[in-house]
Amino acid sequence: MAQIISGKAVSASVREELKKETAALIESSGIYPGLAVILVGNDPASQVYVRNKQLACEELGFHPFEYKLGENTTQEQLLDLINVLNKDPKVHGILVQLPLPDHLDEQSVLYSIDPAKDVDAFHPMNVGRIMIGSYSFLPCTPAGVMELLDASGIEIAGKNCVVVGRSNIVGKPMSMLLLQRSGTVTICHSKTKNLKEVCAEADILVVAIGKPKFITADMVKEGAVVIDVGINRDENNKLCGDVDYESVEPKAGYITPVPGGVGPMTITMLMKNTLRAAKMQNGIED
Ligand code: GUN
Repeated sequence: MAQIISGKAVSASVREELKKETAALIESSGIYPGLAVILVGNDPASQVYVRNKQLACEELGFHPFEYKLGENTTQEQLLDLINVLNKDPKVHGILVQLPLPDHLDEQSVLYSIDPAKDVDAFHPMNVGRIMIGSYSFLPCTPAGVMELLDASGIEIAGKNCVVVGRSNIVGKPMSMLLLQRSGTVTICHSKTKNLKEVCAEADILVVAIGKPKFITADMVKEGAVVIDVGINRDENNKLCGDVDYESVEPKAGYITPVPGGVGPMTITMLMKNTLRAAKMQNGIED
């Protein structure tokens, strides 16, 4: 039987800490951390995410700035808005909800955000800083995974860490963070040979490939730490991860459930980045 890593519980305790830090910042300096969230179009999942970010801001005492733009917003209009927000001292963090409608160029939009306000850590400057281990912000999902490992007292140094998935948002930065903590890291993807054997060597297995129940018990070492970043729907339209929880849980040492595992951490990490951004932009040390 695995120990269940509760993202809900860890997230709640991090938020308590952030709430206190925010109150202290407001008290001492009058600065309210400001997060601008830009949503273009009507993607239903994105609308839910944006609403949750808004609620998190309210919970922690941040100042939310919300921009809901029409489906037909032009590249120029979006860049103009980002430019205004880059210059607004009340806005400390800027997040453009992805995916953007097809006619917009995602890369140039993300590159236009001031790196000091890039609380998603998607700008190449912030991505590069993660590579060299000198960063201000970590991308929210990998940062959430690290927080879960630390909160569970899991040692990373010297462990075989296998990351399944090589996306810019999760797999690549996740691998860098584990490497920085002296894990021996293997990155797997759709072309990896002997995926099953490689996964079965993992002491820590992080899965982010977006395929429902892809990781089965035969791919997991007895006692391994299994972190499931996936959010999918199964054949009955029920939420499920990239890991076949039913079969893997009895074999794992630790496992994150879906929902209630990595998911609750991501917005909390976004809030942590925004608070840090607010402090940095005002010359306040952590
Ligand atoms: N859409 C899905 N995940 C994310 C994320 O982490 N950041 C942004 N900006 N959009 C997303």
